Amino acid sequence: MSESIGVEKVELKHDQPDRDNQNQEALLVVNGLKKTYRSSGFRKQVDPVLQGVTFSLMPGETVGLVGASGAGKSTIGRIIAGLENADGGQVFLEGKDLLSMKAKERRLSAKSIQMVFQDPYESLSSLMTIEQLVAEPLVIQKLESDRFKRKKLVQKALNDVALAPEKYMNRYPHQLSGGERQRVGLARAFICQPRLIIADEPTSMLDTSLRLDLLQLMREMGRRYGVSYLFVTHDIALTRSFCDRLIVLDRGKIVESGCTSDVIDHPAHPFTKSLIEALLELEHY
Ligand SMILES: Nc1ncnc2c1ncn2[C@@H]1O[C@H](COP(=O)(O)OP(=O)(O)O)[C@@H](O)[C@H]1O
Ligand SMILES: [Mg+2]
Repeated sequence: MSESIGVEKVELKHDQPDRDNQNQEALLVVNGLKKTYRSSGFRKQVDPVLQGVTFSLMPGETVGLVGASGAGKSTIGRIIAGLENADGGQVFLEGKDLLSMKAKERRLSAKSIQMVFQDPYESLSSLMTIEQLVAEPLVIQKLESDRFKRKKLVQKALNDVALAPEKYMNRYPHQLSGGERQRVGLARAFICQPRLIIADEPTSMLDTSLRLDLLQLMREMGRRYGVSYLFVTHDIALTRSFCDRLIVLDRGKIVESGCTSDVIDHPAHPFTKSLIEALLELEHY
């Protein structure tokens, strides 16, 4: 693993993976990630959004990235997925330094990291059928050129997310419910056989009962196909049953991390305490 020079340095003391995993190589290592947006007005204001973010994720692990709105969670997800550039730091996937790769090599690695977005309606083109939408990543990533084989893979992916292919393949996104659309988003992510899925607030457009259904489906599929999740959410309550570990982000810095139940039941940082108190207050209404 020649590219992993920086990896040893980035193990956080409070961020140790469980003992079973200690001899395994991390799936994802994010090391000192920095990002600043420069606003374009008369006064060129500089807003540091990520101020040296470091964490790792083991194969098969589900890690929750929690924090208030505007903390920088989506920026982290977009940088890992290659949708945005960083100003500093490194991202290693299975020891390979993604941010220093040439464009062609980066495209080859891109299939290993898929994203599920908050709003499936916005992220799915309204002019494409469900069959075309689920097949699209195979076409973009040049993973399957045979139309017949692509159709078979789409049918399998739809079956996996409990959408009967014969019923859904020819429909358009507006002919689906929010929960069904989000399942299409999941099928699109899984069809590339990724190692990591970054799910950015995937349930926030859904009703409470559908939220838990989607998380349950994500968990089952993650286990079946050995996929890890970085689950981005402002709602710490959703992480209790879904995440092995939590990372708490406050204004571009990680302020706490650890096993989910430890963080929720015994939060150490004032910011984490305030997230949990806000949640308890909401539950009273
Ligand atoms: N493209 C952009 N240009 C300028 N500022 C941005 C851009 N994207 C995000 N930001 C700012 O960066 C901060 C973090 O955003 P984001 O990563 O979306 O936070 P979160 O997902 O935690 O709500 C916010 O203050 C947001 O306004
Ligand atoms: Mg966000």
